[in-house]
Amino acid sequence: MSHLSCIVESGSLSDTADLGQRIGEALQPGTLIGLVGTLGTGKTNLTQSIGRAIGIADGYVVSPTFTICVPHQGRLLLLHLDAYRINQPEEVDELALDEQLEDGAVVIVEWSDRIEQYLRPLDLRIDITAPTEHTRELKFTSQSAKGDAIVAAVSSAP
Ligand SMILES: Nc1ncnc2c1ncn2[C@@H]1O[C@H](COP(=O)(O)OP(=O)(O)OP(=O)(O)O)[C@@H](O)[C@H]1O
Ligand SMILES: [Mg+2]
Repeated sequence: MSHLSCIVESGSLSDTADLGQRIGEALQPGTLIGLVGTLGTGKTNLTQSIGRAIGIADGYVVSPTFTICVPHQGRLLLLHLDAYRINQPEEVDELALDEQLEDGAVVIVEWSDRIEQYLRPLDLRIDITAPTEHTRELKFTSQSAKGDAIVAAVSSAP
């Protein structure tokens, strides 16, 4: 079965915030999202916007640079991982992500391409590039019905 994909341009931080809002509103329990893009393309920034949209209390998702997984409780439990920090794949296994997903958590992984073989198939992959200092191109590739719901939300008219 084929799934949805789309490309969204962001012209500013506020565009990326709007995008995060749409993603957060469409997020379903048990969704695994991978963010792929080089340093400073905005993986953490987008995750923060998604966090705000699901009502994470402090409205701010701390960059997980110094811990590999940071939990945040909003409408859903968000687990934010930075695979850049992971040296040993066993560290991923210890997080028991599959069980957490089954329990309804949402998992967002920065640099997910680095630990692909240790994750179950993604629901949604977002590849981010930075054509200029203030613009971003986000390519959404869904691999499930949960991913499709997000792609539909970000590609519909404002
Ligand atoms: N349109 C835009 N959308 C998102 N971020 C933008 C945009 N324009 C500029 N930026 C800037 O890009 C930077 C993105 O930083 P961020 O830490 O989110 O990147 P990252 O991909 O998580 O990096 P790392 O790989 O180091 O974790 C921020 O400084 C942000 O202000
Ligand atoms: Mg980051």
